[in-house]
Amino acid sequence: MAMLTQGEPRAERVLLTGASGTLGRVLAAGLAAAGYRLILSDLVPFPDPLPEGATFAAADLTDADALAAICPEDVGSIIHFGGINTEKSLDLIYSANIYGTTHVFELAKARRARVIYASSNHTIGFYPRTQQPVSIDDPYRPDGYYGLSKAYAELLGRMFFDKHGIESIHLRIGSCLPEPTETRHLATWLSYPDLIRLVLAALQAGDPRFAVVWGISRNARRWWSGDDAARVGYEPQDDAETYAHSIREESGSAVARHFQGGSMCSRGYTRPDDPDR
Ligand SMILES: NC(=O)c1ccc[n+]([C@@H]2O[C@H](COP(=O)([O-])OP(=O)(O)OC[C@H]3O[C@@H](n4cnc5c(N)ncnc54)[C@H](O)[C@@H]3O)[C@@H](O)[C@H]2O)c1
Repeated sequence: MAMLTQGEPRAERVLLTGASGTLGRVLAAGLAAAGYRLILSDLVPFPDPLPEGATFAAADLTDADALAAICPEDVGSIIHFGGINTEKSLDLIYSANIYGTTHVFELAKARRARVIYASSNHTIGFYPRTQQPVSIDDPYRPDGYYGLSKAYAELLGRMFFDKHGIESIHLRIGSCLPEPTETRHLATWLSYPDLIRLVLAALQAGDPRFAVVWGISRNARRWWSGDDAARVGYEPQDDAETYAHSIREESGSAVARHFQGGSMCSRGYTRPDDPDR
Protein backbone atom coordinates (compact mmCIF):
# COMPACT_ATOMS: atom_id res chain seq x y z
CA MET A 1 0.00 0.00 0.00
CA ALA A 2 1.40 3.40 -0.97
CA MET A 3 2.53 5.69 1.85
CA LEU A 4 0.33 8.74 2.19
CA THR A 5 0.91 12.00 3.96
CA GLN A 6 -1.54 12.84 6.74
CA GLY A 7 -4.43 14.90 5.43
CA GLU A 8 -4.46 13.67 1.84
CA PRO A 9 -7.70 12.00 0.77
CA ARG A 10 -7.03 8.46 -0.40
CA ALA A 11 -7.86 7.90 -4.04
CA GLU A 12 -9.29 4.40 -3.65
CA ARG A 13 -12.87 3.55 -2.87
CA VAL A 14 -14.01 2.83 0.66
CA LEU A 15 -16.44 0.12 1.81
CA LEU A 16 -18.52 1.02 4.88
CA THR A 17 -20.29 -1.88 6.62
CA GLY A 18 -23.13 -1.15 9.03
CA ALA A 19 -23.90 1.88 6.89
CA SER A 20 -27.61 1.88 7.78
CA GLY A 21 -26.90 1.90 11.53
CA THR A 22 -26.70 4.92 13.80
CA LEU A 23 -22.98 5.56 13.42
CA GLY A 24 -22.85 4.32 9.84
CA ARG A 25 -25.28 7.04 8.77
CA VAL A 26 -23.18 9.69 10.52
CA LEU A 27 -20.05 8.40 8.77
CA ALA A 28 -21.71 8.08 5.38
CA ALA A 29 -22.59 11.77 5.40
CA GLY A 30 -19.28 12.92 6.94
CA LEU A 31 -16.95 10.90 4.72
CA ALA A 32 -18.87 11.68 1.53
CA ALA A 33 -18.63 15.38 2.41
CA ALA A 34 -14.86 14.91 2.77
CA GLY A 35 -14.73 13.58 -0.81
CA TYR A 36 -14.60 9.82 -0.29
CA ARG A 37 -16.25 7.50 -2.82
CA LEU A 38 -18.24 5.16 -0.62
CA ILE A 39 -19.79 1.76 -1.09
CA LEU A 40 -22.35 1.57 1.69
CA SER A 41 -23.42 -1.87 2.86
CA ASP A 42 -25.77 -3.33 5.45
CA LEU A 43 -28.37 -6.04 5.89
CA VAL A 44 -31.11 -3.43 5.71
CA PRO A 45 -31.58 -0.59 3.19
CA PHE A 46 -29.84 2.75 3.70
CA PRO A 47 -32.57 4.96 5.17
CA ASP A 48 -31.28 8.36 3.98
CA PRO A 49 -30.86 9.84 0.52
CA LEU A 50 -27.56 8.47 -0.85
CA PRO A 51 -24.72 10.96 -0.28
CA GLU A 52 -22.87 12.24 -3.35
CA GLY A 53 -20.56 9.64 -4.87
CA ALA A 54 -21.99 6.81 -2.74
CA THR A 55 -23.66 3.56 -3.79
CA PHE A 56 -25.49 1.02 -1.64
CA ALA A 57 -25.26 -2.77 -1.84
CA ALA A 58 -26.89 -5.10 0.69
CA ALA A 59 -24.81 -7.96 2.08
CA ASP A 60 -24.94 -10.19 5.13
CA LEU A 61 -21.59 -10.21 6.96
CA THR A 62 -22.11 -13.87 7.79
CA ASP A 63 -21.95 -14.69 4.06
CA ALA A 64 -18.34 -14.25 2.91
CA ASP A 65 -19.19 -14.71 -0.77
CA ALA A 66 -21.98 -12.13 -0.66
CA LEU A 67 -19.64 -9.65 1.02
CA ALA A 68 -16.88 -10.24 -1.55
CA ALA A 69 -19.38 -9.84 -4.39
CA ILE A 70 -20.30 -6.29 -3.39
CA CYS A 71 -16.68 -5.18 -2.72
CA PRO A 72 -14.84 -3.75 -5.73
CA GLU A 73 -11.28 -4.88 -6.53
CA ASP A 74 -9.90 -1.37 -6.05
CA VAL A 75 -11.24 -0.85 -2.52
CA GLY A 76 -8.57 0.90 -0.43
CA SER A 77 -10.13 0.69 3.02
CA ILE A 78 -12.95 -1.17 4.71
CA ILE A 79 -14.60 0.68 7.57
CA HIS A 80 -16.23 -2.09 9.53
CA PHE A 81 -19.12 -0.81 11.67
CA GLY A 82 -21.61 -3.58 10.90
CA GLY A 83 -22.68 -6.24 13.37
CA ILE A 84 -24.29 -6.64 16.78
CA ASN A 85 -23.73 -3.53 18.90
CA THR A 86 -24.66 -4.79 22.35
CA GLU A 87 -24.96 -7.92 24.49
CA LYS A 88 -27.11 -10.48 22.67
CA SER A 89 -27.32 -14.26 22.35
CA LEU A 90 -24.07 -16.09 21.76
CA ASP A 91 -25.40 -17.27 18.37
CA LEU A 92 -25.98 -13.75 17.13
CA ILE A 93 -22.67 -12.44 18.47
CA TYR A 94 -20.78 -15.34 16.96
CA SER A 95 -22.35 -15.18 13.53
CA ALA A 96 -22.27 -11.41 13.01
CA ASN A 97 -19.25 -10.33 15.07
CA ILE A 98 -16.90 -13.31 15.11
CA TYR A 99 -17.56 -14.86 11.70
CA GLY A 100 -18.63 -11.56 10.11
CA THR A 101 -15.50 -9.71 11.21
CA THR A 102 -13.29 -12.62 10.16
CA HIS A 103 -14.90 -12.42 6.71
CA VAL A 104 -14.11 -8.71 6.59
CA PHE A 105 -10.43 -9.33 7.38
CA GLU A 106 -10.21 -12.15 4.82
CA LEU A 107 -11.71 -9.78 2.26
CA ALA A 108 -9.20 -7.08 3.25
CA LYS A 109 -6.40 -9.58 2.69
CA ALA A 110 -7.75 -10.48 -0.75
CA ARG A 111 -7.98 -6.78 -1.71
CA ARG A 112 -4.84 -5.65 0.22
CA ALA A 113 -7.09 -3.09 1.92
CA ARG A 114 -6.85 -1.33 5.28
CA VAL A 115 -9.44 -2.14 7.95
CA ILE A 116 -10.87 0.50 10.29
CA TYR A 117 -12.78 -1.30 12.98
CA ALA A 118 -15.47 -0.19 15.45
CA SER A 119 -14.10 -1.74 18.62
CA SER A 120 -15.45 -0.87 22.04
CA ASN A 121 -14.70 0.12 25.60
CA HIS A 122 -16.42 -3.17 26.51
CA THR A 123 -13.11 -4.92 25.72
CA ILE A 124 -11.97 -3.53 29.09
CA GLY A 125 -15.30 -2.93 30.85
CA PHE A 126 -14.41 -4.82 34.03
CA TYR A 127 -11.73 -2.37 35.14
CA PRO A 128 -13.08 -0.62 38.21
CA ARG A 129 -13.53 3.12 37.82
CA THR A 130 -11.01 3.62 40.63
CA GLN A 131 -8.33 2.19 38.33
CA GLN A 132 -7.39 4.79 35.78
CA PRO A 133 -6.03 5.65 33.37
CA VAL A 134 -6.41 2.38 31.51
CA SER A 135 -4.13 2.17 28.49
CA ILE A 136 -4.28 -0.04 25.41
CA ASP A 137 -1.35 -1.99 26.89
CA ASP A 138 -3.44 -3.12 29.85
CA PRO A 139 -4.92 -6.63 29.55
CA TYR A 140 -8.39 -7.14 28.15
CA ARG A 141 -11.20 -7.37 30.73
CA PRO A 142 -14.28 -7.87 28.52
CA ASP A 143 -17.62 -7.45 30.22
CA GLY A 144 -19.66 -9.96 28.15
CA TYR A 145 -19.75 -11.91 24.90
CA TYR A 146 -20.10 -8.64 23.01
CA GLY A 147 -16.91 -7.22 24.55
CA LEU A 148 -15.19 -10.53 23.98
CA SER A 149 -16.11 -10.40 20.28
CA LYS A 150 -14.54 -6.92 20.09
CA ALA A 151 -11.34 -8.18 21.75
CA TYR A 152 -11.30 -11.06 19.24
CA ALA A 153 -11.47 -8.55 16.38
CA GLU A 154 -8.54 -6.57 17.78
CA LEU A 155 -6.49 -9.76 18.05
CA LEU A 156 -7.55 -10.68 14.53
CA GLY A 157 -6.14 -7.34 13.40
CA ARG A 158 -2.90 -8.01 15.25
CA MET A 159 -2.58 -11.43 13.60
CA PHE A 160 -3.47 -10.15 10.11
CA PHE A 161 -0.77 -7.47 10.33
CA ASP A 162 1.89 -9.82 11.66
CA LYS A 163 1.06 -12.60 9.23
CA HIS A 164 -0.18 -10.76 6.13
CA GLY A 165 0.80 -7.09 6.51
CA ILE A 166 -2.85 -5.99 6.51
CA GLU A 167 -3.13 -2.64 8.29
CA SER A 168 -5.91 -2.12 10.80
CA ILE A 169 -6.92 0.62 13.17
CA HIS A 170 -9.18 -0.36 16.04
CA LEU A 171 -11.34 2.40 17.47
CA ARG A 172 -12.27 1.59 21.07
CA ILE A 173 -15.43 3.66 21.05
CA GLY A 174 -16.87 4.86 24.37
CA SER A 175 -20.39 6.33 24.04
CA CYS A 176 -20.95 7.91 20.64
CA LEU A 177 -24.01 10.12 20.97
CA PRO A 178 -25.18 13.54 19.80
CA GLU A 179 -24.70 14.77 23.40
CA PRO A 180 -23.66 13.19 26.70
CA THR A 181 -26.73 12.49 28.84
CA GLU A 182 -25.43 10.93 32.08
CA THR A 183 -22.39 11.24 34.34
CA ARG A 184 -20.59 8.17 32.90
CA HIS A 185 -20.51 9.98 29.57
CA LEU A 186 -18.29 12.69 31.07
CA ALA A 187 -15.53 10.10 30.66
CA THR A 188 -16.80 8.02 27.73
CA TRP A 189 -18.43 10.43 25.27
CA LEU A 190 -17.43 10.58 21.60
CA SER A 191 -19.11 13.39 19.69
CA TYR A 192 -20.27 12.81 16.12
CA PRO A 193 -17.81 15.39 14.71
CA ASP A 194 -14.96 13.67 16.61
CA LEU A 195 -16.11 10.28 15.27
CA ILE A 196 -15.75 11.67 11.76
CA ARG A 197 -12.32 13.18 12.64
CA LEU A 198 -11.23 9.83 14.04
CA VAL A 199 -12.24 7.84 10.97
CA LEU A 200 -10.76 10.44 8.60
CA ALA A 201 -7.47 10.25 10.52
CA ALA A 202 -7.58 6.45 10.29
CA LEU A 203 -8.23 6.61 6.53
CA GLN A 204 -5.41 9.10 5.98
CA ALA A 205 -2.77 7.78 8.41
CA GLY A 206 0.55 7.29 6.63
CA ASP A 207 1.81 4.15 8.34
CA PRO A 208 -0.68 2.89 10.94
CA ARG A 209 0.38 -0.79 10.93
CA PHE A 210 -1.72 -2.28 13.77
CA ALA A 211 -3.13 0.52 15.91
CA VAL A 212 -5.61 0.93 18.75
CA VAL A 213 -7.13 4.33 19.54
CA TRP A 214 -9.62 5.26 22.25
CA GLY A 215 -12.76 6.45 20.49
CA ILE A 216 -13.55 9.33 22.82
CA SER A 217 -13.57 13.09 22.65
CA ARG A 218 -10.97 15.16 24.56
CA ASN A 219 -12.98 14.74 27.74
CA ALA A 220 -11.43 16.39 30.81
CA ARG A 221 -12.70 13.44 32.90
CA ARG A 222 -11.55 10.67 30.58
CA TRP A 223 -10.58 7.29 32.11
CA TRP A 224 -8.53 6.10 29.16
CA SER A 225 -5.26 7.27 27.65
CA GLY A 226 -2.06 5.77 26.30
CA ASP A 227 -2.97 4.73 22.76
CA ASP A 228 -1.91 5.17 19.13
CA ALA A 229 -3.86 8.42 18.57
CA ALA A 230 -0.73 10.49 17.84
CA ARG A 231 0.61 7.94 15.34
CA VAL A 232 -2.78 7.79 13.63
CA GLY A 233 -3.19 11.58 13.74
CA TYR A 234 -6.46 11.77 15.71
CA GLU A 235 -6.99 15.14 17.38
CA PRO A 236 -10.40 15.33 19.10
CA GLN A 237 -11.90 18.75 19.63
CA ASP A 238 -15.03 18.28 21.75
CA ASP A 239 -15.29 17.77 25.51
CA ALA A 240 -18.23 16.29 27.45
CA GLU A 241 -17.45 18.78 30.21
CA THR A 242 -19.32 21.42 28.20
CA TYR A 243 -22.53 19.55 29.11
CA ALA A 244 -21.64 18.77 32.75
CA HIS A 245 -24.19 21.21 34.15
CA SER A 246 -27.14 19.68 32.26
CA ILE A 247 -26.65 15.90 32.44
CA ARG A 248 -28.32 13.52 34.86
CA GLU A 249 -26.78 11.31 37.54
CA GLU A 250 -26.07 7.83 36.21
CA SER A 251 -28.84 5.30 36.92
CA GLY A 252 -28.18 1.59 37.30
CA SER A 253 -27.02 -0.79 40.00
CA ALA A 254 -23.98 -0.47 42.26
CA VAL A 255 -22.19 -3.01 40.02
CA ALA A 256 -22.88 -0.91 36.92
CA ARG A 257 -21.56 2.19 38.64
CA HIS A 258 -18.50 0.38 40.00
CA PHE A 259 -17.08 -0.72 36.66
CA GLN A 260 -16.02 1.23 33.59
CA GLY A 261 -18.32 -0.77 31.31
CA GLY A 262 -21.39 0.40 33.23
CA SER A 263 -24.65 -1.49 32.67
CA MET A 264 -22.99 -4.02 30.36
CA CYS A 265 -21.12 -5.26 33.47
CA SER A 266 -24.21 -5.64 35.62
CA ARG A 267 -26.18 -7.45 32.92
CA GLY A 268 -26.30 -11.12 33.96
CA TYR A 269 -23.78 -10.50 36.77
CA THR A 270 -23.79 -13.35 39.33
CA ARG A 271 -20.52 -12.96 41.22
CA PRO A 272 -21.29 -13.14 44.95
CA ASP A 273 -18.05 -11.83 46.47
CA ASP A 274 -16.17 -8.52 46.51
CA PRO A 275 -15.73 -7.55 42.82
CA ASP A 276 -12.29 -6.05 43.50
CA ARG A 277 -10.85 -9.24 44.87
N1 LIG B 1 -22.78 3.58 19.41
C1 LIG B 1 -21.75 3.52 20.26
O1 LIG B 1 -21.59 4.34 21.18
C2 LIG B 1 -20.73 2.41 20.11
C3 LIG B 1 -19.80 2.20 21.13
C4 LIG B 1 -18.83 1.21 20.96
C5 LIG B 1 -18.79 0.48 19.78
N2 LIG B 1 -19.73 0.69 18.82
C6 LIG B 1 -19.70 -0.15 17.62
O2 LIG B 1 -19.91 0.66 16.47
C7 LIG B 1 -20.60 -0.08 15.48
C8 LIG B 1 -21.84 0.69 15.04
O3 LIG B 1 -22.64 0.91 16.17
P1 LIG B 1 -24.11 1.51 16.05
O4 LIG B 1 -24.44 2.07 17.36
O5 LIG B 1 -24.21 2.35 14.83
O6 LIG B 1 -24.93 0.15 15.87
P2 LIG B 1 -26.23 -0.12 14.95
O7 LIG B 1 -26.85 -1.37 15.51
O8 LIG B 1 -27.07 1.10 14.84
O9 LIG B 1 -25.58 -0.44 13.53
C9 LIG B 1 -25.06 -1.69 13.20
C10 LIG B 1 -25.51 -2.04 11.80
O10 LIG B 1 -24.98 -3.34 11.48
C11 LIG B 1 -25.96 -4.01 10.70
N3 LIG B 1 -25.78 -5.47 10.82
C12 LIG B 1 -26.03 -6.25 11.90
N4 LIG B 1 -25.80 -7.54 11.60
C13 LIG B 1 -25.39 -7.57 10.31
C14 LIG B 1 -25.04 -8.61 9.41
N5 LIG B 1 -25.04 -9.90 9.80
N6 LIG B 1 -24.68 -8.28 8.16
C15 LIG B 1 -24.68 -6.98 7.75
N7 LIG B 1 -25.03 -5.94 8.53
C16 LIG B 1 -25.38 -6.24 9.81
C17 LIG B 1 -27.31 -3.59 11.27
O11 LIG B 1 -28.35 -3.75 10.32
C18 LIG B 1 -27.04 -2.13 11.65
O12 LIG B 1 -27.49 -1.24 10.65
C19 LIG B 1 -20.92 -1.44 16.10
O13 LIG B 1 -19.93 -2.37 15.70
C20 LIG B 1 -20.81 -1.18 17.58
O14 LIG B 1 -20.46 -2.35 18.29
C21 LIG B 1 -20.70 1.62 18.96
